Amino acid sequence: MPVKIGVIGAGKFGTNHLNAFRQMSYTGVAELAAVAEANPARAEEVRKEYGCPVYLDYHEMLEKVDLDGVSVVTPDHLHRQITVDAAKAGKHVLVEKPLDTTVEGCDAMIRAAKDSRVLLQVDFHKRYDPDHRALEARVKAGEMGDILYGSVYMEDRIDVPVDWFPHWAPNSSPTWFLGVHFFDLVRWAIKSEARTVFATGSRKFLKEVHGVDTWDSISAKVDFVDGASFNFDVSWILPRGFESIVNQAIRVVGTKGVWEIDSQDRGSRSCIEDEGMRTYNNNFLREQTDKYGRTVYRGYGAESIEDFAYNVALLKDGVKTLNDMSGMYPSGEDGREVTRIAVAVHESIDTGQVIKLR
Ligand SMILES: NC(=O)c1ccc[n+]([C@@H]2O[C@H](COP(=O)([O-])OP(=O)(O)OC[C@H]3O[C@@H](n4cnc5c(N)ncnc54)[C@H](O)[C@@H]3O)[C@@H](O)[C@H]2O)c1
Repeated sequence: MPVKIGVIGAGKFGTNHLNAFRQMSYTGVAELAAVAEANPARAEEVRKEYGCPVYLDYHEMLEKVDLDGVSVVTPDHLHRQITVDAAKAGKHVLVEKPLDTTVEGCDAMIRAAKDSRVLLQVDFHKRYDPDHRALEARVKAGEMGDILYGSVYMEDRIDVPVDWFPHWAPNSSPTWFLGVHFFDLVRWAIKSEARTVFATGSRKFLKEVHGVDTWDSISAKVDFVDGASFNFDVSWILPRGFESIVNQAIRVVGTKGVWEIDSQDRGSRSCIEDEGMRTYNNNFLREQTDKYGRTVYRGYGAESIEDFAYNVALLKDGVKTLNDMSGMYPSGEDGREVTRIAVAVHESIDTGQVIKLR
């Protein structure tokens, strides 16, 4: 029997969750059984396109539909209460990154999941990128030696805060929206936790020129317990003419090796009429047609979401326990560690101090 999954929040990124769970019904693993979407117009669109019950109020969905798990894809600052309510209702929960924008919020979510003995998974999908997995495996095998330093950049085009969600960008920042991905990736790849954080940022351009009161860019230096030092430069002000919606890369240097991954440009480029040059991160989401003519999505952007449904299926069938799965997926505790770093980034900007995490 397929596990029944509900999606809460069917906006821009929620659509990926809808597609991932819908395509899992093709193999009988999972079923997109219901959706909760607070915006009535979007709710109607989803009802028509996905053909499942859509509720405006997630409480009603939790009450009326016999779900095994839910994914929470609402704006960052709205994850907490929904996750706690879903866990208390006995549902396994997948939460979009960041888990919450406060450490207390993460604690409340972790506690609720523990009390109800349900899975709490965070969609840190960069761990599922095959290039990032190769890096992690060879660092783990010791082939890179001791990791000394590295750097990361992740930059969105200005469309993201200005056109996509100007209403909640002021509750977010490039660190909350983008940086958290790479905080998780680095700590997972080098198997070390953040010790100190120092950060600076700029908050002027988006506010004064575009009327969106949020951070333009943030640069953070994070030193890890094992001695590695990483720079994280994040922003969401790249010009509209830039060749992709996001620009991103990671570089890691150890005593025995150096590894560089352009996480955006995987070698596929185009220029069609006046569209300009385009590059594609084909590891993320590749739209394909299966042999029955159905649209399916491959890549780590779908796999990290599908992984949650596979985990729910293993738990439901009694093949694995939560203990068996420990360390095998991005957990609530991982989400909490990442939130600690992001909170420290903003505290450091506000105070001008180095923030000690341990
Ligand atoms: N993993 C990634 O790469 C990635 C990329 C983009 C966004 N995200 C994350 O996904 C989440 C959503 O981002 P988005 O870009 O889709 O935002 P969005 O604003 O496009 O969509 C959010 C949706 O949630 C709905 N919503 C809000 N409150 C609700 C409630 N109580 N019940 C039901 N629906 C509710 C809104 O109506 C909206 O449709 C954020 O946490 C964001 O950081 C992750």
